[in-house]
Amino acid sequence: DFDGVDAIWLFGYGSLIYKVDFPFLERRPASIQGWARRFWQGSHDHRGTPEAPGRVVTLIEQPGALCKGMAYRVSPNVFEYLDVREKNGYLRFRTPMTFDNGSHAEGLVYIATADNEAYLGEAPEPAIAAQIAASSGPSGPNSEYLLRLADSLRQLEADCPHTFAIEVCLRGSASS
Ligand code: BEZ
Repeated sequence: DFDGVDAIWLFGYGSLIYKVDFPFLERRPASIQGWARRFWQGSHDHRGTPEAPGRVVTLIEQPGALCKGMAYRVSPNVFEYLDVREKNGYLRFRTPMTFDNGSHAEGLVYIATADNEAYLGEAPEPAIAAQIAASSGPSGPNSEYLLRLADSLRQLEADCPHTFAIEVCLRGSASS
């Protein structure tokens, strides 16, 4: 049995906020400084296919930015599971995190950097929305990923203009 002595904080800013299919000891809203969420990573294994990749979030360095997410205190072996679930180009990095009460801890965060094969990079937000609207993969429609993330970010009172702009584009195109 895991007694928590070796527990590690995991910082989630994407699907980890709402898709919690791993055990955790504790969960707390947190933020990391100097990073911004972007739908710049391609997904050919979860929310798209190799022929028609979807778009999922990664983090880019942006001085002054604040990325709000959810931190989970987990057993080290949870990373073995997540390394498989998130295999599509993400690597683990150490990061300082700030909890809502102002206290700090170090955590691990998965980031897909520009040098991974699945990386798509920057595109206009309406084009990102159109790609998301058109994509679907083994984990479901790419639009569901976006809408669930946007809902979770509202619950966290997270300020993420990029995600919300893409959501507005996607909802607009769905009703016209
Ligand atoms: C996250 O929610 O932090 C996350 C998203 C994609 C891959 C790995 C982690």
